Amino acid sequence: MPVPVTARRRGPLAGSVRVPGDKSISHRAMIFGLLAIGETAITGLLEGEDVMRTADAARALGAIVHHDGPGAWRVRGVGVGGLREPADRLDFGNAGTGSRLMMGVCGAHPITTTFDGDASLRKRPMRRILDPLELMGTVIVSQGEGGRVPLTLRGPKEALPITYRTPVASAQIKSAVLLAGLAAPGETTVIEAEATRDHTERMLIHFGADVVVTPEGVHGRKIVLKGQPELQAAPIVVPADPSSAAFPLVAALIVPGSDILIESVMTNPLRSGLLTTLREMGADITIESQANEGGEAVATLRVRASALKGVVVPPERAPSMIDEYPVLAVAASFATGTTRMCGLQELRVKESDRLAAVEAGLKAAGVTCAIESDDLVVEGLGGAVAGGGIVATHLDHRIAMSFLVMGLATRKPMQVDDGAMIATSFPSFIALMNGLGGELA
Ligand code: S3P
Repeated sequence: MPVPVTARRRGPLAGSVRVPGDKSISHRAMIFGLLAIGETAITGLLEGEDVMRTADAARALGAIVHHDGPGAWRVRGVGVGGLREPADRLDFGNAGTGSRLMMGVCGAHPITTTFDGDASLRKRPMRRILDPLELMGTVIVSQGEGGRVPLTLRGPKEALPITYRTPVASAQIKSAVLLAGLAAPGETTVIEAEATRDHTERMLIHFGADVVVTPEGVHGRKIVLKGQPELQAAPIVVPADPSSAAFPLVAALIVPGSDILIESVMTNPLRSGLLTTLREMGADITIESQANEGGEAVATLRVRASALKGVVVPPERAPSMIDEYPVLAVAASFATGTTRMCGLQELRVKESDRLAAVEAGLKAAGVTCAIESDDLVVEGLGGAVAGGGIVATHLDHRIAMSFLVMGLATRKPMQVDDGAMIATSFPSFIALMNGLGGELA
């Protein structure tokens, strides 16, 4: 059942918040827990619906998964090569990351696995994962039209190691190939023209695999993994998700008079493009303290309402802020002047067609914007945004949260047609924003 949610303008935002654990790392924590020998203790896990689907899949593949308390989980793994064939299809719900990474895992093991998901996941391209898997020996037993879920994979007796150049900048493709490479003898190599988030590489090293990462070209990387390692269980501390922090962050920038702290946000440079862009726009974001959590740098950010100005966001920045464009477009609506975000073709194949959804949402709020080829161009109104629209979210959590953030600063309230999907990545979003002084209901 869709759950409409409305955001209204009230006073300035104030207070200190910590957003939930990083979604990318949380999925990987469950997957590595499954593939390791021994018990992996996880703290700070994001208990959103997407990650819970990955936990269910890990159980179906033979892991013993315990929930000890808020964010605290233990996973007893089966080891690389030890997966059990699941009795039923694996339903990944809305989760592209969980499904694609698990396709890499299962597709390289001698088991038959069926993957499925919700109406959004059933529209998303999976050929990008199936192509390298077929080179490694996976048989696609059945697939939805154009290589979509529901699809069934049968892994080979022993996967073949490959060298693979990712055709688009995608950490999910890279990770699926590397996870499949764990089951293959010899070296599996992934070459990416643009560096994408490196959580899989970091976790492989943390669990004892032999991984060598070298620069490739101007912006790229080459990752070489030695196959068939014995992964050893290792504790995982999940830092706060910068993609979730983006919502209170932009809200504080656009609601006049706001001054908030966002605690211990992961600042991995491959995830920090939004901070770079917002600072270029004139955002008042200062670092109050810095630390290290589970091998990742984290920082407590102080964010104050700011007069933003339009900028050009270069295409090479897209991988480091790929999930943040919807909320950046909201920030750009309140800026003075034009913001051009370049090279956003991948936004068309996220949980929704985010280019189309953002354009429609901004127009509903009275903001002039256009999609020009793969660029999104937003004409900022310098703070005076009308609002008043109803936004179609198309089963996309980030579209819902972005336009609710917008409604905290528009003249008239903003309504989203369905806030239910927010639970996939940020279940406490509404309470957290209201705790800062927002009015979301
Ligand atoms: C993710 C990679 C990105 C991102 C997604 C999470 C990951 O997707 O949009 O939310 O955890 O590897 P792509 O690999 O499709 O760019």
